[in-house]
Amino acid sequence: MLILGIETSCDETSASVMKIASGKMRFLSNIVSSQIKTHAKTGGVVPEVAARMHIEKIIPVIKLALQKAGINLRDIDVIAVASGPGLLSSLLIGVDTAKSLSTALNVPIIAINHVEAHIFSPFVRVLSSKLQVPSSVFPAISLVVSGGHTELFLVKDWLEYKKLGQTLDDAAGECFDKTAKLLDLPYPGGPSLSKLAEHGKPTIDFPRPMLKSNDFNFSFSGLKTAVLYYLRDVITSPSTSLRINSAKQSLSTKRLPRSLALPRNDKKRADIAASIQAAIVDVLIAKTMAAAKKYRAKSILLGGGVAANLALRSKFQVLCSKLKADFLVAEPEYCTDNAAMIAFAGALRARKKKFTPLNKVAADSNWEL
Ligand code: KG4
Ligand code: ZN
Repeated sequence: MLILGIETSCDETSASVMKIASGKMRFLSNIVSSQIKTHAKTGGVVPEVAARMHIEKIIPVIKLALQKAGINLRDIDVIAVASGPGLLSSLLIGVDTAKSLSTALNVPIIAINHVEAHIFSPFVRVLSSKLQVPSSVFPAISLVVSGGHTELFLVKDWLEYKKLGQTLDDAAGECFDKTAKLLDLPYPGGPSLSKLAEHGKPTIDFPRPMLKSNDFNFSFSGLKTAVLYYLRDVITSPSTSLRINSAKQSLSTKRLPRSLALPRNDKKRADIAASIQAAIVDVLIAKTMAAAKKYRAKSILLGGGVAANLALRSKFQVLCSKLKADFLVAEPEYCTDNAAMIAFAGALRARKKKFTPLNKVAADSNWEL
């Protein structure tokens, strides 16, 4: 069986071909066309621009994925497409392309929840590097951390999971992106902030929101505001109060705030970056490990763009080995959005014959698991 995965939920146009033969799964291709360079110019994703770029790229990306896999379009048996959550105008491009292909080729289609794909994305690495899936993975605790999501799940088996908690306001990736902007770092903020953090020490004690809340929910907006006020107190230029007011207003919206930069050569910037990262990582780790203990998890699955963060990965690695739990995380290229994880979730569903009737496949920007 050959599965074509399609992903266009935000700012990556991606297609992947996966083969299942004699019960074994293998990726034949995974093509990702990223729009990061374009969105870096505006400091964030502009939905209309993202949708136009998906329109331009979707067919070439699918063609390349087929070519790299050494197959023709007619060889495809199943199509899996990310149908939500995400930006509606971006999702529509992938979903409409997938529906057209499904109709033209007369093959079944599966609507995939993007967050579900992130939950199981750690196995994409296992498969692509031909490692063995540990014999007993479940029950597992899955943390999905990206630009739009911070969610914790108890995963009982393949495709069997229950949400334990989620962010009550901003996602962890959003907190990285917005605080990075305050520090005048380029978009996307996560990778640039963590790079700067490598040169600093976490000397500032930023708040760890909801660390002791006794549940599995998260909150990151207070941390973001604490960073804003900290910067206000260390920057003394005459225009600061104006810029603080403007940044404060935009912090409460989905827009990225204006930067409140310290001079680029100021050593304190690296310490601030390291301190922000430490606060985010501490909360993510504490909640996940508490869930792992409570549910006696055999493994921890980490997925989503923020899972590419090296500080987060190495801390999880150490704590999981102490807990004698396996730590499974995808390679960084499979943490950020990609179609391989969509094809993989498609394979899990195809195995159970969970296809989606064509008239039920629709872009759903708020699709909650
Ligand atoms: O999964 P993803 O590509 O898109 C969503 O589904 O949102 O995640 C993108 C997010 C962005 O917020 C980006 O800043 C963050 O992942 N990110 C990182 C790192 N690489 C990407 N955050 C922290 N450290 C990183 N190395
Ligand atoms: Zn994502």
